Amino acid sequence: MLFPDYRARRLRQNAAFRRMVRETTLSTDDLMLPLFAINGKNVKNPIASMPGHFQLSVDNLVKTVEEAFELGIPAIMLFGLPSKKDPLGTRAYAKDGIVQRAVSAIKNKVPDMAVVTDVCLCQYTDHGHCGIVEKGVIENDATLDLLARTAVSHAKAGADMVAPSDMMDGRIAALREALDDSQFDLTPIMSYAAKYCSAFYGPFRDAAHSAPQFGDRRTYQMDPANSLEAIREVTMDVEEGADIIMIKPALPYLDIISRVRDEIDLPVAAYNVSGEYAMIKAAEKMGWIDGPKVMMETLTSIKRAGADIIMTYFAMDAARMLRG
Ligand code: PBG
Repeated sequence: MLFPDYRARRLRQNAAFRRMVRETTLSTDDLMLPLFAINGKNVKNPIASMPGHFQLSVDNLVKTVEEAFELGIPAIMLFGLPSKKDPLGTRAYAKDGIVQRAVSAIKNKVPDMAVVTDVCLCQYTDHGHCGIVEKGVIENDATLDLLARTAVSHAKAGADMVAPSDMMDGRIAALREALDDSQFDLTPIMSYAAKYCSAFYGPFRDAAHSAPQFGDRRTYQMDPANSLEAIREVTMDVEEGADIIMIKPALPYLDIISRVRDEIDLPVAAYNVSGEYAMIKAAEKMGWIDGPKVMMETLTSIKRAGADIIMTYFAMDAARMLRG
């Protein structure tokens, strides 16, 4: 159909028509809020590069989760800052670790909030890598057992879902087997399946004190230039038993989200990461953009690309806007 028989503007001329033909609607149900747990009491350390976000001690964390629950946010994603780091990241799988204690406190107070835990070692190792290091090399297979122990310890503490972000090969199968062996066969795994080696994680590494102390993560996280490789990574995780597939970051990788959505029939999640959040907050502070509008446009675009679930530091702000 060509102009003048077809006029694209006919269905844009008023708000009612626009609502009727809108293809994508962002909902609070789509959102997952990442939070940072730290030891201590009544701690609320602002994260400079992530305005509105804090390292929270368990007491304050529970309050924030209550607020998120009131706003209708269905799930939170939990990261921990341990009391001490060591070469094997032992505080990641300690029974009284920070995440383990935070999970049980949250489930106690807000039982219907879904608590998803990040499973990784980088916050817990003194070298800051996501796996065990031997002679300067990140050892894949030896790391799997520690990741599996971490996931099981989270499930024992009450986690509703585990989300491995380490990018070791074979971790989904290792986690699935360990969870099943401990009677957690109903605990889903959300896999950070296509996780890129991205400069957009900068503010997170300040927040979680997880920057690598030597080298970088290029031997385990993906090259930003690759797309076919994302399909291989995702396929591998599906075959190993992942329940939800995550793409990370979101905005610079909308093509990957869209492609995975087309090729895979599992729910797809996207992580709108710390750097994506920080850029919008910074430009808003400078008065260069309309922050709330850019936020909603960003989240809508991630959903339009194919994400069913969006992990975002904007979750509270967006939920408030959606409530109107
Ligand atoms: C740790 C992890 C990172 C993020 C989530 N889990 C950082 C990294 O891989 O260095 C980044 C999240 C964000 O930037 O918001 N494996």
